Amino acid sequence: MSQPTIESILQEKRLFPPSPEFSQNAHIKSQEDYQKLYDTAKADPEAFWAELAEKELHWFQKWDTVLDWQPPFGKWFVGGKINISYNCLDRHLTTWRKNKAALIWEGEPGDSRTLTYAQLHREVCQFANVLKELGVVKGDRVGIYMPMIPEAAIAMLACARIGAPHTVVFGGFSSEALRDRLIDGQVKLVVTADGGWRKDAIVPLKEQVDKALADNSAPTVTDVLVVKRTGQNIEMEVGRDHWWHELQHTVSADCPAEPMDSEDMLFILYTSGSTGKPKGVVHTTGGYNLYTHITTKWIFDLQDTDVYWCTADVGWITGHSYIVYGPLSNGATTLMYEGAPRASNPGCFWDVIEKYGVTIFYTAPTAIRAFIKMGEAIPNTRNMSSLRLLGTVGEPINPEAWMWYHRVIGGERCPIVDTWWQTETGGIMITPLPGAIPTKPGSATRPFPGIIADIVDLDGNPVGDNSGGYLVVKHPWPSMLRTVYGDSDRFRRTYWEHIPPKDGQYLYFAGDGARRDEDGYFWVMGRVDDVISVAGHRLGTMEIESALVSHPAVAEAAVVGKPDEVKGEEVYAFVTLEGSYTPSKELEKELKDHVVKEIGAIARPGEIRFTDGMPKTRSGKIMRRLLRSLAAGEEVKGDTSTLEDRTVLDKLRGGA
Ligand code: WT7
Repeated sequence: MSQPTIESILQEKRLFPPSPEFSQNAHIKSQEDYQKLYDTAKADPEAFWAELAEKELHWFQKWDTVLDWQPPFGKWFVGGKINISYNCLDRHLTTWRKNKAALIWEGEPGDSRTLTYAQLHREVCQFANVLKELGVVKGDRVGIYMPMIPEAAIAMLACARIGAPHTVVFGGFSSEALRDRLIDGQVKLVVTADGGWRKDAIVPLKEQVDKALADNSAPTVTDVLVVKRTGQNIEMEVGRDHWWHELQHTVSADCPAEPMDSEDMLFILYTSGSTGKPKGVVHTTGGYNLYTHITTKWIFDLQDTDVYWCTADVGWITGHSYIVYGPLSNGATTLMYEGAPRASNPGCFWDVIEKYGVTIFYTAPTAIRAFIKMGEAIPNTRNMSSLRLLGTVGEPINPEAWMWYHRVIGGERCPIVDTWWQTETGGIMITPLPGAIPTKPGSATRPFPGIIADIVDLDGNPVGDNSGGYLVVKHPWPSMLRTVYGDSDRFRRTYWEHIPPKDGQYLYFAGDGARRDEDGYFWVMGRVDDVISVAGHRLGTMEIESALVSHPAVAEAAVVGKPDEVKGEEVYAFVTLEGSYTPSKELEKELKDHVVKEIGAIARPGEIRFTDGMPKTRSGKIMRRLLRSLAAGEEVKGDTSTLEDRTVLDKLRGGA
């Protein structure tokens, strides 16, 4: 009997090729160039990566073995010596980039700072020396719990410089979430700030650290290094807590980068946890440096004149790979913004683009949908003609949101790179190369050269074109996660055993459902845990949600399965309306009919529940697990500590 896969029902036919000017100036200029790279890499992945590693990075010592693959454990550039902080900083100082802006920073209250490569290097060296003074040695873990200020990136680069793996914990997480991660990562020192600005208020970071450490509850932590950001009053515990600005002037600005083994741990990052207990994803040095370097260069088509802005927080993998390491390794100008769109300034992103002449803008579908809801009058009053390339990451983007992004933000001239990847993959895996691959709204398009992706059934058999199935990666890649910190069993179970090895080949299972169309384009349909099973049909959430969002009244939609005696499950939709619409029975019927018209009767929602907001993780992913319990009328169980706004859940529970 054939294994259940996932049916695909969405039809999207629009095609957007890059302009000839864009392609001519791009690193990868045509489909043929892409295909050549892809084929070369596929024929001999190790040779492909080795050549790039040699050409693109500085090694203190060359590797002996490109790939040591003891499935599911991979090691890259074994025997090589490298330091990612050196590749991000030192090597640019002997070039004209020495005085180029490395980091442009804009604070929420409107203060700003620009650090050249030379200045950033100096601060990183001082920071590293302070860490050393406080007893941090190679191999010690350092926790970073910071607002979006330059010192967050400086702290990361300083850790990398001395070989102390960092674990960045998102500054919006609670003291409990912080404590769990400090304990799990056996962290020795925590870097934090007195506070940070978010939506016109101060987030009391140091106070959260104090709570996390109270009663010696994270006993491995001996010291806390505090950066002054807001200047509010905080408690400083004598012997444990230290001000960065006081120690900065007591150390030298000379700190050579430690030659690290390619496979030395660079960082642990806990996944955002939309599906339960966070996992400490382990990344190492050489392979991660190479993969984030080359993906940043080709996918964002970085040129020396670009001002590149990724709106993620450094607490997520996107911030690690595509604010800090990837851009700086390329000698680019990376922009960091402390704030978030807020009632007092819903247009702040567009102000930043106008002020700095941002050319490349990378954000998340959840943000785009929020902008759509606020109305296009806001971006339309700003001059954003500097933009030349847009990107999205984090979730499937609904085709209508893609079209809005293309038209309103991109002025119909900017390619959009819809980048599919994960904390675990370290870097972008499926994506257009913007000068080469024509885009289709809602598709992440083709695998990056060197990435062998496929769609299979539960036995690991390829499902063929236009059938839904499980997204897998078939060959190890340089920035793959090495393990789950302290739990290699969980690593094996989660990623490598769900779909068993096929003919001796291990398949990395990403947890996503997807389909590949006749042009080889991938369409990610959402997490397989979220699949809805209606009368024997297994439907991904993304396609039904996209159908709903294509109705003018709908700003955001989340669908889940509600248990049904006859059909197994029925489609239950949570819908947030555009500002000018109000809930009504008529509208509910109209939306159900709209889904039928767009994708067919099988997907017709049994019920639609209007809501002002969706329960989301701090990184903006809808927590469908919670919505499923609500739809079923059950008590909401499981971890809710990563929720962005608890009141949304309370309101939904209360039936308001
Ligand atoms: C999951 C990974 C990668 C950095 C941010 C999220 C979903 C991510 C896309 C995309 C469709 C996407 C997947 C993936 N996802 N990007 N372009 N299209 N889905 O990292 O928290 O580790 O989440 O995000 O479901 O598995 P993460």
